[in-house]
Amino acid sequence: MIRSITPSDTDALVQLAEATRLFKPIEIVALREVLDDYHAVNHADNHHAIAIEANDGIVGFAYYGPAPMTEGTWQLWWIAVRKDQQGRGVGGTLLRFVEDDIRERHKGRVLFIETGSLPHYELTRQFYRKHGYEQHALLKDFYGDGDSMVVFRKALMR
Ligand SMILES: CC(C)(COP(=O)(O)OP(=O)(O)OC[C@H]1O[C@@H](n2cnc3c(N)ncnc32)[C@H](O)[C@@H]1OP(=O)(O)O)[C@@H](O)C(=O)NCCC(=O)NCCS
Repeated sequence: MIRSITPSDTDALVQLAEATRLFKPIEIVALREVLDDYHAVNHADNHHAIAIEANDGIVGFAYYGPAPMTEGTWQLWWIAVRKDQQGRGVGGTLLRFVEDDIRERHKGRVLFIETGSLPHYELTRQFYRKHGYEQHALLKDFYGDGDSMVVFRKALMR
C-alpha cells in the first residue's frame, strides 16, 4: 500500500535511510529536518512524501516536489528502500507512482534526480537508467573532492 507519510513515521523513515548505509551522517540529519519542514509547511507548497507499507512496516519512501520558479519541472529529492527489501521491485513501484502522480495529477513535464558519482552509488545510478533516465549533467567535485553530483533527467510528457 502506498500512502502519504505522517509525523509519526519520521523515526522509522530516518532509521530506514540510515540502515541503507548509502547516506552520509549529514544527509541523515538533513532528512529529519526535511521531514519536519514537510509536516510544518512544505506539504502546503505541493511537496509530497509517500511511503510504501508491507505487513511488517514501511519498506520504502520517496519525497518530491516542483522546482521553485519553473514551469512543470519536478525533482525527486529522496528515495530509499529498506535494506532487506532492495532489489525486489519496491523502488521501481515507488518511482512509477511518483512519475504517474507528477504527470497525471500535476501536469509536470520533466523530473530531475541528483545522486552521487562515487562507486557505491553505481547500483543507484543503474536503477535510474533502467527507468529511462538519462545522465544529464555531472557537477564535478560538487559534494567534495572526487565526489561529484550526477544529475539524471526524464521527460514525463507522452
Ligand atoms: C536505489 C533504490 C531506491 C532502488 O530500489 P530497489 O527496490 O532496490 O530497486 P528495484 O528492485 O525496483 O530495481 C532493481 C534494480 O535497481 C538497481 N538496484 C539499485 N540498488 C539495488 C540494490 N541494493 N539491490 C539490487 N538492485 C539494485 C539494479 O539495477 C536493479 O536491477 P536488476 O534487478 O536488473 O539488477 C534502493 O536500492 C535504495 O534505497 N538504495 C539505497 C539508497 C539510495 O541509493 N537512494 C537513492 C539516493 S539518490
